[in-house]
Amino acid sequence: MNSRFTPATFSAANRAWWDSDAVNYHTQHPEYLSSFYWCPEMLHEREAQLLGDVSGTTVLELGCGSAPCGRWLAEHFPTARIIGLDLSMEMLRCAPLDHAPFRPLHADALALPLQDNSVDTVFSVFGALPFIDDLSAVFAEVSRVLRPQGRFVFSVNHPMRWIFADDPSAEGLHVAYSYFDDAYTEANERGELVYAESHHTLSDYINHLVAAGFSIRRMIEPEWPDNLTTTWGQWSPLRGHVFPGTLIISAAKEPGCM
Ligand SMILES: C[S@@+](CC[C@H](N)C(=O)[O-])C[C@H]1O[C@@H](n2cnc3c(N)ncnc32)[C@H](O)[C@@H]1O
Repeated sequence: MNSRFTPATFSAANRAWWDSDAVNYHTQHPEYLSSFYWCPEMLHEREAQLLGDVSGTTVLELGCGSAPCGRWLAEHFPTARIIGLDLSMEMLRCAPLDHAPFRPLHADALALPLQDNSVDTVFSVFGALPFIDDLSAVFAEVSRVLRPQGRFVFSVNHPMRWIFADDPSAEGLHVAYSYFDDAYTEANERGELVYAESHHTLSDYINHLVAAGFSIRRMIEPEWPDNLTTTWGQWSPLRGHVFPGTLIISAAKEPGCM
């Protein structure tokens, strides 16, 4: 964990960042944000079946943004209760309000305003987790609201990506940072945090999940599809064919864990 910043400063910086970047984010990634894709490698939930049939259950999406994923679930499983939680009101405002079983919730993933054992599935697509320093705190919250044997599935930047610069070209294929750097942060001229992304290693994810009462069911490192030519941010066919950009972990709350 990063001792230089408190969870509150991380959340405040990210709320302001995502509020100000919401329109830009949606303008830049229209295809990715048009349906339930787990990652820029465009792995669709229809093929991946990581959540499967959620009919009649309660599903919570962490860091949903405009909730292209939660809204896809709501459309395909109309008897499910889908809650889309995000820290940024402006990201939530980008969601069309035409999917009845979808309920937006403006809150911090570190303090879920939901009852214990009230949710069947929690998932996240690059939402909240990369922006939270204290994984043990957020995993404890997820474990608290999940029913025993409930599923927790999330996609994040692959931890090995941290050693390379944020550059999709051949120039970016050189080691630039330590795998063990704990965060990427930006401050304004007054030294106030304006953007904060946490770097969690693979063992951070696994060990904190196990400590919070989860068992790991599956890990996926999606390969870059041959027919995908998009380049955005650090993602590109060049990099995608050499090393993974995304890590997806599927876990389940242990039956005896309350
Ligand atoms: C990269 S966007 C991903 C949004 C959406 N899942 C998608 O795939 O488009 C990250 C989202 O996480 C949200 N976020 C960051 N920190 C959070 C926190 N502590 N609690 C809840 N949401 C958070 C941001 O507001 C932002 O909407």
